[in-house]
Amino acid sequence: MYYRPSDGPRQEEEPVSADSRGVLGVVGTATDGVETLRTGLVEPALALGWQVAVTLTPTAARWLRANGELDRLESLTGLPVRDTPRLPAEPRPHPVADCYVVAPASANYVAKLATGIADNQALTQVSEALGTVGVPVVVFPRINAAHARHPAWEGHLGALRRAGVSLVYGADVWPLHEPRQGPADRELPWAAILANTAVRAD
Ligand SMILES: Cc1cc2nc3c(=O)[nH]c(=O)nc-3n(C[C@H](O)[C@H](O)[C@H](O)COP(=O)(O)O)c2cc1C
Repeated sequence: MYYRPSDGPRQEEEPVSADSRGVLGVVGTATDGVETLRTGLVEPALALGWQVAVTLTPTAARWLRANGELDRLESLTGLPVRDTPRLPAEPRPHPVADCYVVAPASANYVAKLATGIADNQALTQVSEALGTVGVPVVVFPRINAAHARHPAWEGHLGALRRAGVSLVYGADVWPLHEPRQGPADRELPWAAILANTAVRAD
């Protein structure tokens, strides 16, 4: 059973177990492949010793609630999956993250993060981390060739790079296809995302 705010105060002060690497904030958005977040990222991160706290955009949460993955993520991590802001009087449902990984990140999420829009919990947490010293942020944009040709796209990537974000991006990890023309069974590059996270966190 995971913690609920109604259980009473807990968190930021809660010690992380001695063998833990720390707290990994995992943020998922509404793209193809987000349904593999548990098997591709959360389970391996737990196996590496992270405590994992998952936050989803509202749309991604709707998708993962519908297919049962949200419940599985909560059972696995022992924490609620966040998709809404807490009430001001409620305690924080997650411990403070030592590192964030946004994977998969939609073109929409990347644009909002790069321009400082924080209109949902998944953006609020990572926007704050961008301005917090010592909290690495890794982002995997799960986009297609049309997203990349948007006139604002390169500017968004530049803004994130200048903020110190580590982008899992490029033809070696995620070759771009035209919309609806990528292989149907294409897996997200979870190994590269995990490796990048480990490097940034160490
Ligand atoms: C089935 C489906 C698959 C999608 N896949 C992608 C994708 O791979 N990349 C992307 O940027 N947007 C994709 N979208 C569009 C996003 O879901 C949409 O822009 C949404 O507003 C993103 O919301 P979020 O960024 O708050 O999660 C997809 C939409 C649907 C319905």
